Amino acid sequence: MLAGVDGSYWMESAPATAFPALTGDLEVDVVVVGGGIAGLCTAWELMEAGQRVALLEADRIVAGVTGYTTAKLSALHTLVYTKVRKSFGADAARLYAESQQQAVEHVAVVAGRLGIDCELERVPAYTYVESPDRLDEIRAEADAAAEAGLAASFVIGTGLPFPVAGAVRVENQAQFHPRRYLLGLAGDLTRRGGQIFEDTRVTGLDEGDPCTVTTAAGHSVTARRVVVATHYPVFDRALMFTRLEPRRELVVAAPVPAASDPGGVYITPEQNTRSVRTAPYSDGQRLLIVTGEHFTPGEGAPAEQWQRLIAWTHERFPGTEIAYRWATQDNTSSDRVPFVGPFYPGAENVFVATGFGGWGMSTGVMAGRLLAATITGAAPAWASLYDPRRLNPLREAGNMLKLGAKVAGHFVGDRLKPSPAGSVDDVAAGAGSVVRVGGRQCAVYRDEAGQVHAVSARCTHAGCIVDFNEAETAWECPCHGSRFTVDGAVLQGPANSPLAPESVTE
Ligand code: FES
Repeated sequence: MLAGVDGSYWMESAPATAFPALTGDLEVDVVVVGGGIAGLCTAWELMEAGQRVALLEADRIVAGVTGYTTAKLSALHTLVYTKVRKSFGADAARLYAESQQQAVEHVAVVAGRLGIDCELERVPAYTYVESPDRLDEIRAEADAAAEAGLAASFVIGTGLPFPVAGAVRVENQAQFHPRRYLLGLAGDLTRRGGQIFEDTRVTGLDEGDPCTVTTAAGHSVTARRVVVATHYPVFDRALMFTRLEPRRELVVAAPVPAASDPGGVYITPEQNTRSVRTAPYSDGQRLLIVTGEHFTPGEGAPAEQWQRLIAWTHERFPGTEIAYRWATQDNTSSDRVPFVGPFYPGAENVFVATGFGGWGMSTGVMAGRLLAATITGAAPAWASLYDPRRLNPLREAGNMLKLGAKVAGHFVGDRLKPSPAGSVDDVAAGAGSVVRVGGRQCAVYRDEAGQVHAVSARCTHAGCIVDFNEAETAWECPCHGSRFTVDGAVLQGPANSPLAPESVTE
């Protein structure tokens, strides 16, 4: 039994939303598909720029990936400046830093202007290592980040309660409550004429002039421009599925005395990643939020990995009791720079934002500003860096081939693999397994009351075989990261339709 309430603190500590579903056809200037941070920021910026906007969300806004983040608002993204400088050059690293730091400042300005109480706190950001063997990487990152224009330095002292070998420290970063900020934006958007529709899944995209998106309920929205901001794009263009790698990561949160607050946002690439921040909590306490133990959806061992993360938290912050645990998910692009801009070569009216690499807060805000400015004819200097139409075989080929081979391996291998459970009877209460029934691969889960839930094990995105995540009671696809409930409903795309029900007899 894992410690803590199974749920995101951000979801628990901000109100639920109840925007209506789309029940008729609509015509606007821009339709935004997806109600996470990138979609909401894009819609709000477009509304600010005078566009008539509608945002369509398949479920509830800010309740997908954005509701389960760690919400660090930082331009320091582990070791990104060394990588961007090496792959794209020093000017590109400067543009990356400028665009991400502007996003941090933008949140402060907008929250202040709209009076949004989103617990925004200005703190330094650190990337640290404990092993002296990796100090060179930290020194190189401090140099690269400083050269890129951030207030970065190499330090050996941090606010963490354990020694580090060295760290990059960047001033003027931030942490905030993502739902409070974004629900504030959503409120402002709708008060000023923008429209938000929840429980409205987009299933079709016709890229004419104008464009039309169609919903699962059979309604359509006509717009001059479409922005696809569904985390992992629900429509494939520009070989996107070969250029994005999904990654899931675990989070635990525990109250600590305010005096134990390490006073910053921290990350280390060591130990399968550890990330630390705090948030305001009850009187005299802060909520310590620790993230790490990443894995490919469908390939991890999250119950054991959660135990490791909990053990690390107890060891490094003695006396903590885990109050919450949740998991977060993101995609990393094949060249490590997000894809934000026109969806594919020749696309004039359809835009995308994806591949944030675990840094969705600053990148989501940046994406909103970039897309709104591009659509209204004033693209910023850094638009070209993030342009999804870039394709540099030298930079990307290695990762694309690796990703392609892994997907092909799952697509073929998982069909031939023997099932761990010989029959439905072998599936224990609280467990799930892929079981062959009459030649079909069925995803079978037995709930604690003994009732069997059976759906097709073939992912509705591209047909890979799903695997069970027992710690989160969900089916996960290892190919592109789609996730489903035990009854087949989509929790996470790119799959856009549920797993088909199966009837299995015990
Ligand atoms: Fe692509 Fe399942 S997510 S095949």
